[in-house]
Amino acid sequence: MEEVKNLDKFDKKTKSKVCLVIGGNSDIGKAISYKFAEDGYEIHLAGRSISEMERTAKDITNRYEVESQVFDLDIEDNASLNNFLYSYNQVPKIVIYAIGYLGHQKLAENSIDEANRIININFTYQIPIINHFANLMEEQKNGNIIIISSVAGLRGRATNYFYGASKSAMIAFASGLRQRLSLSNVFVMSVLPGFIRTKMTQDIEAPKLFIGDVVKVASKVFSAFKKKKTVLITPFIYRLLFLVINNLPEKLFIKLKK
Ligand SMILES: NC(=O)c1ccc[n+]([C@@H]2O[C@H](COP(=O)([O-])OP(=O)(O)OC[C@H]3O[C@@H](n4cnc5c(N)ncnc54)[C@H](OP(=O)(O)O)[C@@H]3O)[C@@H](O)[C@H]2O)c1
Repeated sequence: MEEVKNLDKFDKKTKSKVCLVIGGNSDIGKAISYKFAEDGYEIHLAGRSISEMERTAKDITNRYEVESQVFDLDIEDNASLNNFLYSYNQVPKIVIYAIGYLGHQKLAENSIDEANRIININFTYQIPIINHFANLMEEQKNGNIIIISSVAGLRGRATNYFYGASKSAMIAFASGLRQRLSLSNVFVMSVLPGFIRTKMTQDIEAPKLFIGDVVKVASKVFSAFKKKKTVLITPFIYRLLFLVINNLPEKLFIKLKK
């Protein structure tokens, strides 16, 4: 990944009412974009499923009478990543990072390709994009970054610790970025969802009490953003659950295999 050095052609002045969703076809990202569209934001969706994003963009424009655009981005493809960073020549008011890959824990235990894929999609490959917009926003002293990580990053579990570790890295990254950019009037929010029913979790069973609804999550993210809440764990039940889990002594935690 090359650094985008020549920013002369960039319109560096922050667009006051533009919200860019990286992972524009993500169920959570999409649901959040509807909330910002309802609030009058122009919506930009970046991702690899162009036709699905075009459908969403059209629906957003029809419903809320705001502009919407779609941008091609596959973060596993270096050329696509570079092309996106060069061609998206503006600074939105809000950038939301919603790309994610749950992957296959058992496969990753024996396949370095799968292990790398989980770590790269959830963390490494997102960093150049976050850096890019963070630096531009810092220069403008204006902007907002919402990073979707996961409660899975709060404590590694046997069933998904490759995914959990990559989300944990993102939590730490967002925390450091927030401290740095707080000096430049740029707000960084971390969202740590619990289990939410989306296409990522469509084949996974969970007790009903612990299954979050994507539209409710989007509303929580939107209202927490408006209140400038720095870290959001949602649904609320996961705040209680992780209060317990995070305080369990390691010797006891080891015995909870699920
Ligand atoms: N659902 C949950 O229970 C849950 C819990 C905690 C955190 N999260 C996090 O929430 C975020 C959104 O996930 P979701 O639940 O909305 O699942 P989702 O609908 O499956 O969204 C994941 C998105 O990542 C995109 N993506 C994956 N690899 C990509 C690549 N190489 N280039 C570009 N885009 C890529 C997918 O693109 P395509 O649409 O083209 O496949 C998809 O839109 C993720 O960061 C996820 O880890 C989810």
